[in-house]
Amino acid sequence: MTDVVLDGVGKVYPGGQHAVRDVRLRIADGELFVLLGPSGCGKSTILRMIAGLEEATSGELRLNGGVANDLSPRERNVAMVFQDGALYPHRTVAGNMMFPLEVAGGDRADARERVAELSRALGLAPMAGRLPRTLSGGQRQRAAIGRALIREPSLFLMDEPLSSLDAGMRTELRLEIAALVRSTGTTTVYVTHDQVEAMTMADRIAVLRDGTLEDVGTPEQIYRDPATVFVAAFLSSPPINLFQATAWAVQDEGVVLDLGPRRLTVPWNDPRAPGLIGHHGGPVIVGVRPDALAWTAAEAPGRTLAGRVRAVEFHGHEWLAYAEAGIPAVDANEVGRPAPAPEPVPASGGRLRGLLRRAAPPAPEPAEHEGHHRRSHLVFRTGAERPVRGEEVLLEVDLERMLLFGPDGRRITSARR
Ligand SMILES: Nc1ncnc2c1ncn2[C@@H]1O[C@H](COP(=O)(O)OP(=O)(O)OP(=O)(O)O)[C@@H](O)[C@H]1O
Ligand SMILES: [Mg+2]
Repeated sequence: MTDVVLDGVGKVYPGGQHAVRDVRLRIADGELFVLLGPSGCGKSTILRMIAGLEEATSGELRLNGGVANDLSPRERNVAMVFQDGALYPHRTVAGNMMFPLEVAGGDRADARERVAELSRALGLAPMAGRLPRTLSGGQRQRAAIGRALIREPSLFLMDEPLSSLDAGMRTELRLEIAALVRSTGTTTVYVTHDQVEAMTMADRIAVLRDGTLEDVGTPEQIYRDPATVFVAAFLSSPPINLFQATAWAVQDEGVVLDLGPRRLTVPWNDPRAPGLIGHHGGPVIVGVRPDALAWTAAEAPGRTLAGRVRAVEFHGHEWLAYAEAGIPAVDANEVGRPAPAPEPVPASGGRLRGLLRRAAPPAPEPAEHEGHHRRSHLVFRTGAERPVRGEEVLLEVDLERMLLFGPDGRRITSARR
């Protein structure tokens, strides 16, 4: 049993690639903890630093309270499964699972019993005597997981173990893996770039971007109350609608969010209204997931958006419609990135000018200046009744589920805590 603490952990690879920056995380004993983020954000690097396969260049890694930076992988007692859990090709499934126990020595009858037990738990009993090349990808991956778990490691690390499998097998195995590691109580760190996998399996999720931690919380917390625009967008399928708006505090109404062609009003009794006052007259980012939009016949003042339907898509279990609403859109991948390096400042007389330029606020993006903005599509779900292409639709926003961010991409007031 193990808890894991990353205390300001960073990694710069030889050659200067800054893969992980000042990550602070506490993974509780027995937790199924997921590291989630796009390709290249540093997930594998963090996992490999926990495993001891890669050295942290800064910060402290603690296992069960003790500093572990200098411990060998063996001393950490971790087991790791990779995307393509390689098996010994000339050993059977049972033989592969038996191998770590043979290396460790100990009673053979005990070992056989443990292999049989774990094979049953993983649904591998019928193929225990078969060689890896005669198995499906999913069966092979199960055997690799079995081989990793057989030693009863104190820490179980998995790096995208399902990414090479088809969708059906992924769904099936993610349920089994989650159930298995929960039943053994082994602290598990699981890496994936698949938001559905993360949401369905995790006790808690850490979302990473460019080597930096963006958010940590239970799946529900980070879905309902994401810390940043990036997290909101990464955990939204179908994609979240992100709009550029200007906030105006209006005494008798609340905070009016001017989206250009439309206005949404956050009433004064909304817990986020006080935080919005600080943005009076300035830009904010409004996030509305498709499940917070309802196609409606009647206008509700301060809560309704309008658009013209551009496309309607069949997704099997639902239909999605896309409407052109003429509202300036926001690209989640652009928001909250560090500003580009300042321009070089001329040596003489330029010092003050340089300072002023750096001190100037980021260029405002008022909703009125629509000319060069990308227009957003309003994505919404429709049921049995569907709009047709070209139809004008009204969409009511569930204001409580609307997400609000500052121009830096950070949430305006958290509902958490
Ligand atoms: N051995 C290495 N030497 C130099 N740079 C590296 C090395 N390994 C990874 N990197 C870089 O560090 C960054 C993080 O890589 P990492 O493999 O941790 O990302 P990841 O989140 O696991 O991505 P993916 O989802 O594609 O597996 C990337 O920019 C990558 O190019
Ligand atoms: Mg990786």
